Amino acid sequence: MEKCKLFQSVINLPYFMSYNAIRNLSSEPNGPKIVTQDIPGPKSVSLKKELSYLQNPATVQLFINYSKSTGNYLYDADDNIFLDVYNQISSMPLGYNHPALLEAVKDPANIEAFVNRPALGVLPPSNFVEKLKASLMSIAPPGLKEIQTMACGSCSNENAFKAACFWYKYKERGGKAPTDEDLNSCMINSSPGSPALSILSFHGGFHGRTFGALATTHSKPIHKLDVPSFDWPIAYFPKYRYPLEDFERENAAEDSKSLSHVAELIDQYKKKSPVAGLIVEPIQAEGGDNHASDNYFRNLRKLCLDKGVAFICDEVQTGGGPTGKFWAHEYWGLEIPPDIVTFSKKMLTGGYFYRDEFRPREGYRVFNTWLGDPSKMVLLQAVIKVVKEQNLLKNMETTGNHLLKEMKNIEKKHSGKLFNVRGRGTFAAMDFQTPEARDKAVKALHKRGIHCGGSGSKTLRIRTALIFESKHADIFLNQLDKTLTEDF
Ligand SMILES: Cc1ncc(COP(=O)(O)O)c(C=O)c1O
Repeated sequence: MEKCKLFQSVINLPYFMSYNAIRNLSSEPNGPKIVTQDIPGPKSVSLKKELSYLQNPATVQLFINYSKSTGNYLYDADDNIFLDVYNQISSMPLGYNHPALLEAVKDPANIEAFVNRPALGVLPPSNFVEKLKASLMSIAPPGLKEIQTMACGSCSNENAFKAACFWYKYKERGGKAPTDEDLNSCMINSSPGSPALSILSFHGGFHGRTFGALATTHSKPIHKLDVPSFDWPIAYFPKYRYPLEDFERENAAEDSKSLSHVAELIDQYKKKSPVAGLIVEPIQAEGGDNHASDNYFRNLRKLCLDKGVAFICDEVQTGGGPTGKFWAHEYWGLEIPPDIVTFSKKMLTGGYFYRDEFRPREGYRVFNTWLGDPSKMVLLQAVIKVVKEQNLLKNMETTGNHLLKEMKNIEKKHSGKLFNVRGRGTFAAMDFQTPEARDKAVKALHKRGIHCGGSGSKTLRIRTALIFESKHADIFLNQLDKTLTEDF
């Protein structure tokens, strides 16, 4: 019933939609509304109990009514309305039920993509090249002209690691074909066919939970416990002090400390397990919103070039616009782009862009059944159109500036309770004194109708949709201020 109403409202949209309607804001409520005494409310609690007979529901917070949810607002099963500053772990580009996406789903020309999921590596649809160009390639990072689609962030990183290893060994063999010994030994996981190569990652980094990706994830023990892993190098990541303008010297020293450690590790691993690739997030997201300077990343890129190590930039969480650019690494002003840029989340499909040297020479080296999903590219094409037409990257910059300025004011007002306000665009965060205080703030904000989440041990992170505006930021800021005044 609800769904019918929603579709009806889309069908009836006038040709010249108002500004609000285009941004999908006209259907939004005036603000959050909490109707149950506790969060989660009784319906969510009862559904969680039912789910518990089928699987471990430990991570489930709320059950959601997705047909009612709209724009920046999430409606739960109990009819509580939340302003969503977390967006499905940062993966909703245009909020809920955006008219442009509903239109794309209804368009008869797109139905085949939703109904027939192809094995893209062998039988891609006849419009595949056209769709790739109209969606992913239309926002490819500067200098990267090739693309591999994948299903999720973890498998994008997994395959990026493999591409780095293929590249490394191809160079080492001088372009010659692998020997029989290479081919036979790889079948029993032995050298030289299965070489001792490594991927360097950073303390605090998060790159996914599959086996290879997990070996480069270092944000929380619960992700890694009991899983065998590789002996791969893990480098120190800069730890900044805030406000940045007061600690320039100290933070520059952090950059140098990290860069020296990376160089040292690459040299140290040369004999036992040479570093084929290095993976880094432009902002360590799951690990606690840890930033490093543009200059740091320029030097890191240069170091990789000097040492012959593939530079893999994980934009799974930062990519797709929340920082005010499609790709956060665009802020660095690199002369030579990253070798590989991985994505997922706001891009709706996973995958990676890469420099042409990283194309495997043979088929089936980077491959699986689906290799992504063309229906997601249909949706992404619609998302990109809206982002461009509505200048949503600029919106992230404007809203982000407002959000950060006011968060800093709140930090001053509540000094001793809130620390280290930081961000780029609306990709913003703040620290609490302890993990318990952070968890208490997340819960208190939930009760006030703000759906937010944590990162790292004591950080509260903001991950908005691209349609989040200053008026939404003000609702969040007001509730944050009240929480710190009344609940702490
Ligand atoms: C930076 C980063 N890389 C990789 C991943 C893994 O992506 P997925 O959960 O789609 O496997 C995440 C997920 O949060 C992430 O934030």
